[in-house]
Amino acid sequence: MLAGSAWLSGPKTLAALMQMHSTAAPANTLNVSTLANFVDPLPIPAVAKPDGMRSLPSSRKTKLPYYRFAAQPVEMKIHRDLKPTRFWSFGPAVPGPTLEMRSGEELLVEWANELPQQHFLPIDYRLHGAEGTPQVRMVSHMHGARVPPDSDGFPEDWFVPGKSVLYHYPNQQDAAMLWYHDHAMGINRLNVYAGLFGAAIVRDKVEDALNLPSGKYEVPLVLFDRMITPEGQLYYPVSGKERAPWVPEVFGDAILVNGKLFPYLEVEPRKYRFRVLNGSNARFYHLALQNGLGLQQIGTDQGLLPAPAAIKKIRLAPGERADVVIDFSDSRGEQIVLKDDAVAVMQFRVSANKVSDSSSLPAQLRPVPRIPESEAVKTRLFTLDEYRSLKGDPVLLLLDGKYWHDPISETPALNSTEIWTFVNPTDDTHPIHLHAVRFQVLDRQHYEPWTYQTKKEFRFLGPRVPPEPYEAGWKDTARADSKMVTRIIVPFNAYPGKYVWHCHILEHEDNEMMRPYEIVAGT
Ligand code: C2O
Ligand code: CU
Ligand code: CU
Repeated sequence: MLAGSAWLSGPKTLAALMQMHSTAAPANTLNVSTLANFVDPLPIPAVAKPDGMRSLPSSRKTKLPYYRFAAQPVEMKIHRDLKPTRFWSFGPAVPGPTLEMRSGEELLVEWANELPQQHFLPIDYRLHGAEGTPQVRMVSHMHGARVPPDSDGFPEDWFVPGKSVLYHYPNQQDAAMLWYHDHAMGINRLNVYAGLFGAAIVRDKVEDALNLPSGKYEVPLVLFDRMITPEGQLYYPVSGKERAPWVPEVFGDAILVNGKLFPYLEVEPRKYRFRVLNGSNARFYHLALQNGLGLQQIGTDQGLLPAPAAIKKIRLAPGERADVVIDFSDSRGEQIVLKDDAVAVMQFRVSANKVSDSSSLPAQLRPVPRIPESEAVKTRLFTLDEYRSLKGDPVLLLLDGKYWHDPISETPALNSTEIWTFVNPTDDTHPIHLHAVRFQVLDRQHYEPWTYQTKKEFRFLGPRVPPEPYEAGWKDTARADSKMVTRIIVPFNAYPGKYVWHCHILEHEDNEMMRPYEIVAGT
């Protein structure tokens, strides 16, 4: 628990910093708006190929498809007019190869650390898990996967260059876009910023039967923002305090899509399916087509929505995914810019010729039965806290006033359902992610933080707001909005053992906004 009185719980600092970072690039970085737009085609990450068959160490008999993902330094051109940029990746480029999976079909991935002995981004040795040596540590987590705990990439299970681990993915879950990324304790934000992530797609029969756009008409869009130096290299900002370089959030003006800055994609005048992932450390996206063309969101983090939701903007917090269909059939010959608020992100070049389109966008996708609140056997309430120090120490972020190393306090029973309530007095929205499970957003409600802080009583300032239609499916990451109480309902249908839950703003996660939890097998 938080001890001592040298800390003030206050909402101001972070939001102020957020504003500063999101507008201007610091002097030592390149202003990417000076670069030519739409001169590079959108790269499509390669689909990973199995490296043979292997058996699980526990069962000699069954052979499973085996993949090897090795983290290595790479050089990649992010823009025609920039020199190659150094990244770390699980493949020849960032994002790493896309892992294609089928629901119910198990597979094995060997995650190998073939990185150098030294990190190239500024480690903060004060942070829990980042102390001392070795500098370079990694562990891979499959975000959104329902996996046994020993294959989930527990943050403290990191391994050093020259080592590898073999993880087992049972894939007992519905079709969805997942993503793999580093999760090493205390340096996760740096490893992901360096490029250690990629997309993973689970498919199943329900989705197959819908006849959605597929093949070259289904395109992953993996978004991540970076700061770039005038030499074209990654820049990760520091606080200015030599021994405490951690900064509370990082926003770059270079928004990369599949690893390119301002790419273009040539499309036919027909329906396309885009699998959009926010792989940024801290940036929230609000993506819209400049010509006002509408989009249909058909899925969220954990798969298909019950029905398509008409949207004007794709809204994604860090870690979230959106599955959207765009119909270009009325836009023949047009060039349409995709913008994040006012900033150009990429361009679609629609060909002028007429084409036929045999794909469909059904009015009903996949039922998502709402879980009745009465099914919950327990309700837990958490505050999301930011503390300012009276001594000028960096901001401190905690979940429910607890540090990572405090004893485990969340021990849901295997297969039980719980309601988790997040009380957010801060000016920041924190995207909260739980490993191993999927959940539904129940509602959000404005409340008055001061009354709660002083009297532990809720004074609500409005009604309970149900989730937006585009987030009314199965989720694994949800916004806990500023000054609101957000409730989710979670069936803990995973595997018994230790997992984590955390804020998916990676700077927050690395600095104590992450907690272990344990799913406990029935007695
Ligand atoms: Cu995207 Cu703990 O993960
Ligand atoms: Cu995860
Ligand atoms: Cu946060």
